[in-house]
Amino acid sequence: MKIAVCPGSFNPVTCGHLDIFERAAEIFDEVIILLVYNSAKVYDVSAETRIELLKEATSHLKNVQVTAHSGLLIDFALEKNNAVLVKGVRSLMDFEAEMTMAYVNKMSSHCKIETMLLPTSAELSYISSSIVREFASYGGDISNYVPKNVMEKIAKIYYKGERKI
Ligand code: PNS
Repeated sequence: MKIAVCPGSFNPVTCGHLDIFERAAEIFDEVIILLVYNSAKVYDVSAETRIELLKEATSHLKNVQVTAHSGLLIDFALEKNNAVLVKGVRSLMDFEAEMTMAYVNKMSSHCKIETMLLPTSAELSYISSSIVREFASYGGDISNYVPKNVMEKIAKIYYKGERKI
């Protein structure tokens, strides 16, 4: 059985992420969406909340599960029978960053862990979690950016109210 791991911080899950999960679910027997820690980021929404949103957003995908891991990504992938890491790429900037991580993960796992990069669907390529956070924090319309069934929850969680200049 071939397993895919889709890692990320998912702060919050977007339509771009969902597109990658759905495509990975067609290719692999099992897909594990893995919430992991990115040391370059600060999170103001808990891992539990982000996991809950991921679970609801992917409830229609029968071979997909959601979990979290606080260590190295390759250790998790090695434990899952050398699972393939699946990531979406939106741009050349993403590509460069993902290539570096793919090399590091491959070399550090003694060539056991491969990465598969899927180009984001063109119509979703401008969506990012940071854009969603910014829009939602002002009460902006995020309905085109996040999965429909969790849109209202995300809007409420990330709304910061009115701010003083
Ligand atoms: O969604 P993100 O934050 O861009 O995803 C980056 C992430 C979380 C996948 C990356 O930071 C990661 O793999 N973190 C887990 C710790 C780890 O294995 N670091 C080495 C990566 S080369």
